[in-house]
Amino acid sequence: MHQTNNTLPEDVWNNALEDFKTHLRFKSISTDSAYKQDVADCGAWLHAKFESMGLETQTYPTAGHPIVVGRTKADPNKKTVLIYGHYDVQPVDPLHLWHSDPFEPVIKDGKIWGRGTTDNKGQHLALILGVEKYLNEHEGELPVNVIFLIEGEEEIGSPNLKPFLEKHKEQFACDIIAVSDTGMVARNTPTLGYGLRGIACLEITVNAANADLHSGLYGGMVANPAQVVAKLISSLHDSNGKVAIDGFYDDVVELETWEKDMWTTVPDMDDTSLKTLLGVDELVGEAGYTPVERVWGRPTAEVNGIYGGYQGEGSKTVIPANAGAKLSFRLVPQMQPDIILAQAKAHLEQHCPAGVTLDIELGHSGNSYMCDPHSEFGKAGQEALRKTFNAEPVLIREGGSIPIIADFKEVLGTDSLLLGLALPDCQIHSPNENFHLANFRYGIVLVQNLLDELA
Ligand code: BES
Ligand code: MN
Repeated sequence: MHQTNNTLPEDVWNNALEDFKTHLRFKSISTDSAYKQDVADCGAWLHAKFESMGLETQTYPTAGHPIVVGRTKADPNKKTVLIYGHYDVQPVDPLHLWHSDPFEPVIKDGKIWGRGTTDNKGQHLALILGVEKYLNEHEGELPVNVIFLIEGEEEIGSPNLKPFLEKHKEQFACDIIAVSDTGMVARNTPTLGYGLRGIACLEITVNAANADLHSGLYGGMVANPAQVVAKLISSLHDSNGKVAIDGFYDDVVELETWEKDMWTTVPDMDDTSLKTLLGVDELVGEAGYTPVERVWGRPTAEVNGIYGGYQGEGSKTVIPANAGAKLSFRLVPQMQPDIILAQAKAHLEQHCPAGVTLDIELGHSGNSYMCDPHSEFGKAGQEALRKTFNAEPVLIREGGSIPIIADFKEVLGTDSLLLGLALPDCQIHSPNENFHLANFRYGIVLVQNLLDELA
């Protein structure tokens, strides 16, 4: 008997919401060391949750934030499903744009608002609570072995998880991985992701004079680092929106025709809907591809931050001594992050004018991922989505990145089903992040259907 979306008893739902709010109140911002204890506390709460469900639970400290693992008693005759998620969240700035406290969840308009509601606490908690419900209704028995692996460093590139997996490979052997940390294209449109873009980050700093200078006394005599940063950034693209770094596209695998065709049928991903969603009157990017193709199947170069010079009120006539920018590249199969970073570094050095020094610091990176949505597991994922939402799933690739998914494939040899529940208006990484409560409920139901299908 499959579960439908209206089979949640009221007490289950109320308890689920209480757990959700508790989970959200931890300020588990992984990138900022000021929140190290909050991250640890959040992991400890998950640990206690797993124990309360009767799972074999362990928290593994790392050089950064802890990894929390909860597993059912392993039965060698059952398939094993690893469920991955992350309990760390992005920073909340700019705080003044939030309509309510990012760490004091508010329920309004059918959504729950706060940092991490969608990315990723709401999504992985729904899966945890669905498993809890299944256990409660079946005397602690599941049709498959389940291993929960919830980490605290996804938003900073999972630096410690891959080495951890390599060390504990046997303990995480599994048949399939289930992840709800990606998008759902529209309400009530179940979405199976079969690809993720990779990522490679770097930061540039440009230095010139030994101090900020009066721009009247010295302007026209020395290089201006802010202008150099602007020049370097504008050298990254040509007039067709292509990345102008030598060799950048060398390893890019072109989109397949079936994907392009399929994507034209995906709801709410047409130009008009996207313009409305994003509040722009033109969509721009690489010539020769639709917006969705550019985001799901093509590589890009982006500026994530830029600084230099005076930012305060009014004007200040100064030549800044230094300026900088944070860049990231999104990668598609078969691009290699290390190669891209080396090419980008060479490009920036070549384009850097005289009179300044350029420092390039390479940041974190991760591989792209792609699997076959029509495999046996892919079909099981589709069927679980179909039953849960009572609608035909769409198959997409994702523009975002979850680097550990490619590492799972490399280290464990296992593919991942990306069962996204994030709607386009959920504002992840942004002020007023929110999660549709309908999707929280769907997630609880989805995992139960998934376990049945996978078994
Ligand atoms: N959950 C997101 C990734 C995502 C969101 C994929 C929506 C597809 C649709 C994840 O938490 C994330 O933000 N990843 C980072 C990766 C990084 C910091 C290494 C990203 O994509 O920027
Ligand atoms: Mn994220």
